Amino acid sequence: MNTGQPSRTAVRVALRRAAHQILDRPLVFEDPLALRMIGREVAAALEQNPARFESQLGSATLRAFLAVRSRIAEDALAKAIANGVRQYVVLGAGMDTYAYRHAVPGLRVFEVDYPSTQDWKRMRLKESGLVEPDSLTFVPVDFEHQSLGDALAGAGLATGEPAFFSWLGVTPYLTKASVWATLTIVAGLVQAGGGITFDYAVPPASLNFFQRARFAVLAQRVASAGEPFQAFFEPGALKEKLIGLGFAEVRDRGPDALNRKYFANRTDGLAVGEMGHVVTAWSK
Ligand SMILES: C[S@@+](CC[C@H](N)C(=O)[O-])C[C@H]1O[C@@H](n2cnc3c(N)ncnc32)[C@H](O)[C@@H]1O
Repeated sequence: MNTGQPSRTAVRVALRRAAHQILDRPLVFEDPLALRMIGREVAAALEQNPARFESQLGSATLRAFLAVRSRIAEDALAKAIANGVRQYVVLGAGMDTYAYRHAVPGLRVFEVDYPSTQDWKRMRLKESGLVEPDSLTFVPVDFEHQSLGDALAGAGLATGEPAFFSWLGVTPYLTKASVWATLTIVAGLVQAGGGITFDYAVPPASLNFFQRARFAVLAQRVASAGEPFQAFFEPGALKEKLIGLGFAEVRDRGPDALNRKYFANRTDGLAVGEMGHVVTAWSK
């Protein structure tokens, strides 16, 4: 992260989520507020010529992955809510719009993010005329330097009650030590019926030559935005460690599983690429 500045990748991800709303049918993830979050001028330019924003190598596969990870997180959240969970913590929320699209009776939402990203988002919300609901609490935290547990407790998370967490598009940008520190805290907070959906990237060394070349392009892009990729995980070892942290059920979906379940029978060929996995882990 560039100190004191909003996350540039959060802004780019929001743009791709908005592009998904325009370019892709059927939608994998429906977000009617995505366009409003990126600002009127950018939204108008995107609507006029969406392909111009999405013409880089790997744009479509990345857009597909961003759409599907949000879909999986919100489907899992809906399941948690059906089971009585009434606390949702959006870690590294970026321009996520869940809190402004849903009014689930009794549900409290906590948006946790790097302070300057959060400040920027709140400015964007104001400019877009989107109201911060009373059920929402903003929790400014730097995962690398602050305690998530203390920050959430201070913000009013009921630590004895179950909670569902999402953590999308963040782990690759942190050190492995911070990822595990955060997952350890989350494991202690979820409580029975709660869980987490997060995504991660597999080590580039596990890819073939062409896949590595595509990865190198993306890695270069995020590094020049000041947010280099740092943490990669091997699926088997990750699952074992999550179970060691106390998660009872861990579902890890890699590219094949994602494409089979969410992108089959499309006529536009939209599909995810090779690096990203989406995990949902439930507590006992
Ligand atoms: C790629 S964006 C993803 C945003 C959002 N989850 C989404 O899917 O649209 C990465 C997010 O991680 C946050 N982030 C990165 N490093 C962080 C840190 N050290 N502490 C807190 N948040 C961090 C950024 O502020 C940004 O919101």
